[in-house]
Amino acid sequence: MRTVRTVAELRAAVSASRSSRPDGIVGLVPTMGALHEGHLSLLRRARADCDTVVMSLFVNPAQFATGEDLEAYPRDERHDGALAAEEGVDLLFAPPAEEVYPPGFDTGVDVGTITEVLEGDPAQRGAGHFRGVATVVLKLFNMVGPDVAYFGQKDAQQALVIRKLVRDLDVPVRIEVGPTVREPDGLAMSSRNAYLSHAERERAAALNRALRAAQHAVDAGERGAGRVLAAARAELEASGVEPEYLELRSAHDFSPVERVNGSTLLAVAAQIGRARLIDNAILGAK
Ligand code: PAJ
Repeated sequence: MRTVRTVAELRAAVSASRSSRPDGIVGLVPTMGALHEGHLSLLRRARADCDTVVMSLFVNPAQFATGEDLEAYPRDERHDGALAAEEGVDLLFAPPAEEVYPPGFDTGVDVGTITEVLEGDPAQRGAGHFRGVATVVLKLFNMVGPDVAYFGQKDAQQALVIRKLVRDLDVPVRIEVGPTVREPDGLAMSSRNAYLSHAERERAAALNRALRAAQHAVDAGERGAGRVLAAARAELEASGVEPEYLELRSAHDFSPVERVNGSTLLAVAAQIGRARLIDNAILGAK
């Protein structure tokens, strides 16, 4: 595995692998590091599908709101690099902030109404969060020029924002979304789980229990949004977790839904100790 820190080196390395294998597929896995099994599952998928695997490691300041955990965000490039190398990553792109945002940088990508709900709600992280995500991801696409890029369903809204960005701006990349990887008790893996104390860690498992309770209600024939949400809320309350939001939305465009159908997303966010955690499930209904 080779580590590069500038766009020029990155482009030279990708174009060298393209010339040595003209039909080769280049895959990109964007990350902010603090790698866990969720990230590794995307790297494995990329390794299985692609001839050249590029992983980016960049804690993107533009997607953190003021007062969020930008400074505290776990950083350990040496450890992440070792994990990436073990998974067969060919090229690690780990730029300093000035390489991505040189002086005078002043452009942003706004993906529209889907960035204004859930995580993008002004009461949550605000649309600025997704502007930061969309801008850096489009830059990464332009820097690497991948044939395919991999994202996780854990960040369902982010994945939809990227799909829409690619469609709306005709970016020539295929987007693959991998399933959420979980701890044995169902807690979705997240770099932010490292902030949890033992007691908080136990409470955090209530998020996934809430999603499962909603799915059970649907399996039992319930379709009304109010009752499905009540089943989920009861699980959160039983563990003393007050959600920042708990919402049912269309998985296609994030519009609100009154009744659950086969493509309804249940999304939850909650602050547990220092960690702001999110999780989601597509509720299967026939
Ligand atoms: P980060 O949180 O490091 O996540 C990198 C990728 O791993 C994202 O696509 C995310 O959805 C995926 N991922 C995280 N936890 C996962 C889990 N438990 N199961 C499956 N996939 C998981 O998301 C970002 O970084 C940034 O916003 C980024 C896209 C890199 C732009 O800065």
